[in-house]
Formats: sequence, C-alpha cells, structure tokens
Amino acid sequence: MSLSAETLEEAILSFLPPEEPLIRTAVDAMRYSLTAGGKRIRPKLTLAFAKLCGGSEEAALPFACAIEMIHTYSLIHDDLPCMDDDDMRRGKPTNHKVFGEAAAVLAGDALLTLAFETVLSEQAAALNGYEKCVKAGKILSSCAGAEGMIGGQIIDMESENKTVSAEHLAVMDRKKTGALIKAACLMGCISAGADEVQCQAAERYAECIGLAFQIVDDMLDVISDEATLGKPIGSDTDNHKSTYVSLLGLEECRKRSAALTEEAISSLSVFPQGAEELKELAVRLRDRMK
Ligand code: IPE
Ligand code: IPE
Ligand code: MG
Ligand code: MG
Ligand code: MG
Repeated sequence: MSLSAETLEEAILSFLPPEEPLIRTAVDAMRYSLTAGGKRIRPKLTLAFAKLCGGSEEAALPFACAIEMIHTYSLIHDDLPCMDDDDMRRGKPTNHKVFGEAAAVLAGDALLTLAFETVLSEQAAALNGYEKCVKAGKILSSCAGAEGMIGGQIIDMESENKTVSAEHLAVMDRKKTGALIKAACLMGCISAGADEVQCQAAERYAECIGLAFQIVDDMLDVISDEATLGKPIGSDTDNHKSTYVSLLGLEECRKRSAALTEEAISSLSVFPQGAEELKELAVRLRDRMK
C-alpha cells in the first residue's frame, strides 16, 4: 500500500509555520505553491525506495516532504522574471504573479530553509534517529546547492542564446534536474538503512530517470499544450534555451529517453522483488504528457 496523495499533502503542510498575522504573506505564498498540484514525483521516489530497501513510508515521510519543499522552491524561483519569466505553473498563475516578486523570492527561500528544518525535526528524528537525519540532510544540501541543482540552473541561464554541445547539456541536466531526483531516491535508502549495493542501484536508477526526465520536459515544451502541461509551452524557445530538442531533435530525444528508461529499469535487478512500482514509474515518466 502506498500513502495517498492526500496524506502526503497533509504531511507537507503540517510542517508549515503557524499563521502569525505579520508573516501571513510568506506562509500563504508557500502554501499556494505547495498545494498547486505538482506531480509529487520526488517524494514518491523517496517513499518507494524506503519501502524497497526494507524501511517504511512513515519513517521516510519527513524526508519526502523536504524534497518536495526544495523542488517547489526551485520552481518558484525558476519562474521569476529574472529567470524563465513564466506566468503559469501547475495550472495556476505563478507565485510572483499572485504575491509579487519579493514575496515569491522570500517564499522560495523559506521553503528551502523549511526543508532542512523538516529533515532535522523531532518527528524525523523520532522515526529515523538523528544519524540518518544528518545523512539525509547532507545528501539534500549537496544535491540542492551549487554543485547540484543551483549549479545546473546557472549553467542553464548562461547557456541562453548559445548553441552548446550535447555533453554540456548532459552536465547541466544532471545537475539542474538529476541532482534532486538523486537526493529523493537516496534519502529513501537512508531512511531504510539500505546497504551499499542498494544505494548504488538507487543512484544509477536516479541518474537515468533524472536525465530522461529533463529530456521529456524539454520535449513537452514543444509537443504538449498549456492546458495539459499546466505551464506555458514554447518557454525554452522564447528564452533561446539550449535543450535536447533544439540540439538533437525530437526523434533522438525519444530514443535517448527510451534507452535511459531501460537502463533505469535494469539497474533495479539487484532487488529480487518489490521493484515493480519503480519500474512502472520510470515508464510513466517516459510516456507522460505533463
Ligand atoms: C518540473 O518538474 C521542473 C523540472 C525539473 C523539469 P516537475 O515536472 O516534476 O514539476 P511538478 O512538481 O509536477 O509541477
Ligand atoms: C528547471 O528546468 C529545473 C529546476 C531546477 C527548477 P525548466 O526551466 O526546464 O523547468 P520548467 O520547464 O520551467 O518546469
Ligand atoms: Mg529553467
Ligand atoms: Mg522553467
Ligand atoms: Mg522545462
């Protein structure tokens, strides 16, 4: 049995600070993006790897909440006028369109901070012990920071208006998208006390679906529509971004995302049973339209 979407959302919201009147805008802006209807891929990965490695979803839940907070903050900032300048996200006006730029920047900062408060919370410690919480926090911070997601975002911004190599794109995408997906998988392993072989398999799976995920995201910017996707299409073209589609074309993107999905699935062969959920997830991510 997997935790329901409602239970996950409830858990995420339970970590929000109480509503003091003077900080209300910040909390409202945080809640707005957290409840806007994301696919929750990263927390699902955390929970699935925790289960697969012999742990429990309940214990991994604070880590799952933390990864979704970081991901949501990254999207709030990614949509700002100084970055991708997008007006729609998850089918709703972007955070800065509703709350203004200053509040959107601050809500993003607050979600980033809240993620670490959550990983180090008494609840997380009671379920996992502080040693695992520290390990999870270490992975999360290195994957979210300049060597990880932020590094990918700066490469992305500095690659606008340039034609870059496929290798450069792979480095960028491994960081901007792959790093948080890796953190999501590994935090599930950490909660479960997974062994080295299991962690390595999770890392390989994450690397493959992480890159495939961004390739499909780049494709959807071209082949989907705003109503389905919940965010504008053509954003990459408008911003003169280098993407897998602009560089290699749709057909090659399809081939690469399919090959990476196959590799992700075979990396799960070290698990004698119980890996179906993660295999199916990899296929769903390859074939998604949003
Ligand atoms: C979008 O991520 C940003 C990328 C890393 C490509 P998702 O497609 O997981 O976004 P939500 O959470 O479902 O909105
Ligand atoms: C953003 O990549 C990845 C992040 C780290 C937020 P994109 O800019 O392609 O994400 P979308 O398409 O706006 O969701
Ligand atoms: Mg971007
Ligand atoms: Mg964007
Ligand atoms: Mg995109």
